[in-house]
Amino acid sequence: MIACMTKPVRARSFDAIAAAYDAHRPTYPPALFDAVEDLAGRSLAGARVADVGAGTGLGTARLYERGARITAVEPGDGMAGQFRRSLPDVSLVRGDGNGLPLRTGSMDLITYAQSWHWTDPARSVPEVRRVLRPGGALALWWNDSDRTVEWLVDQEDRTRVFLGVEIPAVPSHRARFRAQLPDGLDFRTRQVAWSRRVPIDAHIANMATHSDFLIGDPVEVRDYFDRERALLTALFPDGEVEEAYVVSLAVAHP
Ligand SMILES: C[S@@+](CC[C@H](N)C(=O)[O-])C[C@H]1O[C@@H](n2cnc3c(N)ncnc32)[C@H](O)[C@@H]1O
Repeated sequence: MIACMTKPVRARSFDAIAAAYDAHRPTYPPALFDAVEDLAGRSLAGARVADVGAGTGLGTARLYERGARITAVEPGDGMAGQFRRSLPDVSLVRGDGNGLPLRTGSMDLITYAQSWHWTDPARSVPEVRRVLRPGGALALWWNDSDRTVEWLVDQEDRTRVFLGVEIPAVPSHRARFRAQLPDGLDFRTRQVAWSRRVPIDAHIANMATHSDFLIGDPVEVRDYFDRERALLTALFPDGEVEEAYVVSLAVAHP
């Protein structure tokens, strides 16, 4: 199956499955937020934070728990609806990173949890510069499967074959991560490794929330997941897998 769709269609693909996204995607580990505070040079407690591309609020909730004064920004109807059900007390405005619905100089920190790549940096970087107060920070992060773990590498390779995507010429996390960062900003970076143990069905449900599968042929995708479930059940007879992740974080003071 070749997944070829325009970026805006892919970017909206989460809206139809927002409840499943909220239930099955992993959240982020406490060490990530320690690293954000360290690289941003300030505590999250009391900070005015815009969490852009907030989705259903998986990252927003962790920022909120740390005492950040959050304004979440989300363009998608389905994701925004789920956000309001999950975090009714947190402020959410509709909009996207290419035209932030926020006042000039109003934020200490802008965060993008797995959402920066959906923006057009020619527009989103100037918007970050406009909305941050002088000395404010931009934090971008992505949570990827740990490519040192054999069963996850094997699964990613099978997924690439299914999707008709070539094995990347730059296979390391670090190289792929750096390729997503916008030019012209001076980023400091960290990698945070962590894991969670989940039933195989929950792992498959998590995979199914990724845009590559959301835009695919539903019958082919279901067959692919049936094959994955059988393979994993043979590999892990106790019915659980350890999902191992590396969060790659980049922080700049634009
Ligand atoms: C992979 S989800 C990440 C959601 C959430 N931040 C999290 O960590 O779970 C990507 C989110 O980016 C949003 N998005 C799509 N286009 C965007 C844009 N141009 N600017 C900001 N966010 C965008 C999508 O609607 C979606 O909610």
